[in-house]
Amino acid sequence: MKILSIVAALALAGALVYADVPKTEDANLVSVVNSGKIATKTLLETLQKNMQQHMKKGGVMDALNFCSTEAYALTDKVNSELQKGVTTKRISIKYRNPANEPQADELKVLNSFAEIKTAKKALPEYVVEKVDEHTYKFYKPLTINNQVCLKCHGDISGDKVLEKAINERYPTDKAVNYKMDDLRGAVVVTIKK
Ligand code: HEC
Repeated sequence: MKILSIVAALALAGALVYADVPKTEDANLVSVVNSGKIATKTLLETLQKNMQQHMKKGGVMDALNFCSTEAYALTDKVNSELQKGVTTKRISIKYRNPANEPQADELKVLNSFAEIKTAKKALPEYVVEKVDEHTYKFYKPLTINNQVCLKCHGDISGDKVLEKAINERYPTDKAVNYKMDDLRGAVVVTIKK
């Protein structure tokens, strides 16, 4: 696996000279980073806007229903509206939905984010992995950046109705007991050239 790190991306801006990255790679990276940023922003804004509307309208149970029945369909919808060859998803080491379990290469990147967090250093804005000649993955780390996340990913043992509803839907749920600022996972954008 080849991680073309943020250093390579910075080099494009002329901030650093990165001799190992050939010119065509430079051009690819610029477009990969652009596609990755747009897809990440679209997905996160769509999910958060809808989740918060449900939270306002019907509280945490309504928001939970939304997340468990529509988050996937909404992700598919975002994907269908992105540039051709670009798809996005969310992954986590401690995932709720088994469909969000990271693949082997994705787990390596998540583990590297986790190490950065353990060392109390700042997470990169993004990381780019070159999977093969035509495929890149853009990763944006996600943290618990809002108190609202803790309603469903924090200590949920105080709300028995919610706890039961989550356990019924996700019998193998690992996505609880997070605290503010913990690493929650990542958005992965796969870009096929
Ligand atoms: C109302 C409950 C609720 C709230 C609030 C909530 N989530 Fe979730 N979250 C869920 C559910 C349910 C899933 C599984 C949905 C699916 O099928 O993808 C999920 C999945 C995720 C995933 C995908 C990985 C996995 O575990 O399956 C990430 C990442 C995530 N949430 C981050 C957040 C963040 C960050 C916040 C705060 C901005 C947040 N969530 C707020 C209920 C919630």
